[in-house]
Amino acid sequence: MNIYQLPFFSKRKKFGFEVDSSLPVCDGPVYTDVLSTIHQIIKPDWYLEIGSRSGTSLTKCESNFIAIDPEFAISAPVFNTAKRMIFCQQASDDFFETDFLAENNISPCLAFIDGMHLFEFALRDFINCEKSMKRNSAICFHDVLPFNVPMTTRDLDYVKTDNRPWTGDVWKTMAILLKYRPDLKIKIIDSKKTGLAYVSNLDSENTILEENYSEITDEYLNMSFSNSGYSEYYDLFKVENTETFLLDLKQQAATTSSQ
Ligand SMILES: C[S@@+](CC[C@H](N)C(=O)[O-])C[C@H]1O[C@@H](n2cnc3c(N)ncnc32)[C@H](O)[C@@H]1O
Repeated sequence: MNIYQLPFFSKRKKFGFEVDSSLPVCDGPVYTDVLSTIHQIIKPDWYLEIGSRSGTSLTKCESNFIAIDPEFAISAPVFNTAKRMIFCQQASDDFFETDFLAENNISPCLAFIDGMHLFEFALRDFINCEKSMKRNSAICFHDVLPFNVPMTTRDLDYVKTDNRPWTGDVWKTMAILLKYRPDLKIKIIDSKKTGLAYVSNLDSENTILEENYSEITDEYLNMSFSNSGYSEYYDLFKVENTETFLLDLKQQAATTSSQ
């Protein structure tokens, strides 16, 4: 039996929101706590965050950072003891256009993509981040495991109503990476509430996504999460237990540092 057919996944409401009974519910640690642990394990020299809003996810960072958001509303205590904390109040595409990272010789060890929740934006964010990152760095994505169909909409007005969780169609970005970049190591974990992806084995020289960007976005644009869409998506990977993932990551980091 597929794990998603277990009674555990048949609850109708979760976190105060409608849950589609055929979709997995992410019951692992909340994503900001997971990010915090990832920071402690990786200890990045530079962290790059796309989409910071109030700064909640940024508070997990204890290193130099670059935060990008066209509309900051910082209310969280984001300042840490590192030397450089850079806020770029612009869309991520505009940030990457400036070549800020190369000009300042910055190669982030960890990036978190949580900006515009439309797959083509998240895909461009990945392409642009990867170009400046080393193989042993990692890029995390938020919102890769929607728990109902309405939250996957591309309608930007959806999120303005009742502050509902909105994953958009970032799930397509995962499907694209799984299909077009089999060289990447992609872990998709059951972090609350809408999952996290941890992508490693990066290759800054790989141009497959950029070269085929138009064809890829045409292929996925009209794909819908409802009907057959999501069963095919969940067949592409195994949702991993967050605690197990973090333990493995810790062990890998310990092994690498002892070599
Ligand atoms: C879900 S919020 C980020 C939440 C934050 N990461 C956290 O966990 O506390 C998404 C943010 O992405 C920003 N955003 C929207 N379009 C963007 C773009 N093109 N580039 C970068 N950020 C964008 C929005 O302004 C918003 O603040």
